[in-house]
Amino acid sequence: MLKLIPQPQKIEKISDKTFSFTNIKLGTNDLSVEAQEEFISSCSLPFSKSETIIFKTNTALSDEEYIIETGNEITIFSNSTSGQLYALQTIKQILFQCKDKIPHIRISDKPAYKFRGFMLDAGRYFFSVEDVKKIIIRMVLHKLNVLHLHLTEDQGWRIEIKKYPLLTEKGSIRRKTNFNHKPHSGFYTKQDIKKIVDYAHAFCIKVMPEFDIPGHSRAAIACYNNLTCFPRPLPVADHWGVKHDVLCVGREQTMQFVYDILDEFFEMFPDEYIHIGGDEVPKHRWDLCPACSAKREALGLKTSDELQFWFMNRIKDYCKEHGKQAFMWSWDLEDDSLLDTDLGFTKCDDMDTKDRPFIDTSTKANYIDLPYGYISLKDTADHKVYSGNALGVEAALWTEYVPNMKKADLMSFPRTGCIAETGWNGNCSWDSFKEKLDYYYSYLDRNDIGYAKPNKANPNKLRAKLSILLFERRQLAWEGLHNIFDDKKIEKIAENK
Ligand code: ACM
Ligand code: ZN
Repeated sequence: MLKLIPQPQKIEKISDKTFSFTNIKLGTNDLSVEAQEEFISSCSLPFSKSETIIFKTNTALSDEEYIIETGNEITIFSNSTSGQLYALQTIKQILFQCKDKIPHIRISDKPAYKFRGFMLDAGRYFFSVEDVKKIIIRMVLHKLNVLHLHLTEDQGWRIEIKKYPLLTEKGSIRRKTNFNHKPHSGFYTKQDIKKIVDYAHAFCIKVMPEFDIPGHSRAAIACYNNLTCFPRPLPVADHWGVKHDVLCVGREQTMQFVYDILDEFFEMFPDEYIHIGGDEVPKHRWDLCPACSAKREALGLKTSDELQFWFMNRIKDYCKEHGKQAFMWSWDLEDDSLLDTDLGFTKCDDMDTKDRPFIDTSTKANYIDLPYGYISLKDTADHKVYSGNALGVEAALWTEYVPNMKKADLMSFPRTGCIAETGWNGNCSWDSFKEKLDYYYSYLDRNDIGYAKPNKANPNKLRAKLSILLFERRQLAWEGLHNIFDDKKIEKIAENK
């Protein structure tokens, strides 16, 4: 039985015959040079004179859909470049698995969800353009199609903005991390971003940038103190943990800053999705801030939470005016009734979001930075997409404790295989996935992708406890205590105003 990840919708046997290919040549197609080269090089078969893979158009097929028929040649039917690309990804797995005994079959396949994402948090740790390209290849192997780049954080600003040069000159440098206590820095120039976007597009992947506001903005505030309610010198954050100094939304100059940044984002990122963060926004400063209070009263709002909803809606509108579908995190959100229904969620838990479009980023299945003791491979495999208006799924790789590609692979795989299967097929389960696990490991090996071995990916009780203990010990940042003292300082300043 053929083992494929993600599982195709339908595999039919045509006859008992088998075929072998000793060399390979692609017929005329619409694929990028990069995508064709990636396929040819991974097949490791010599070139043939005549075409062995033939591309035919079938206008009845939808975007991303394809049909493969094997025989003396392999025929691909599709109606899109992405359909051609995904057919080749399936063929690659068949060639690798069946060697010189390719079965006589027809595969009819299309995705269950149109949004199949992978998030890289490049804020906590910077990942080079070469690393991002590696991630793009990992995505295409799994038929994922949206690269979500988390680019602004408390611990680092990672993208060149012409209008605010300090953001990268200063904001991209962290004196130390709470993981290895070493300085850390890095950012993407405009040219780097173009390289990433072009490379992603070559593999039919869209790029969704994230500008995380109004919280998680300490790196920006470290550069431009006046962005926050009570301006004072603050460094780029070294430590993990929720910061209390957030953007002051009562000041027009902060709003202008946000629009200016978004304008440059719109220039750099042509695809229709944008992420505007919205997670973890303590309201301590807003409650005390004269500008935020004045804004709240002018708008007739009762609480600082309502002020945040107003802010998110307004920024979503600005994105929409520029043709973008905006998303925010539903993390720590209890009630979404004041958020416009066209503001999408990356949905972290099973709240009722009615008709609101969302991407499933379950913290119980898709937060792939969490230790396997919290989210085992089995948990990820058995997760069912939250009910409601789901556009798709996303693997979320936060990087507080992921300093490099080696660790990124270890946390991402094999769990991302299950998320990809859910996104593409609509269904994954541990019962079906475990039958393919040995094959999947061999396919990851073949592609030089690291992973957690079975005893780590589905840890026993002791191993699970240890992985959680290690993780939580590192979580104990001083920030909690620091925040308490800091809050008192700000309260004094506010009293004297
Ligand atoms: C989040 O986990 N802070 C969205
Ligand atoms: Zn304020």
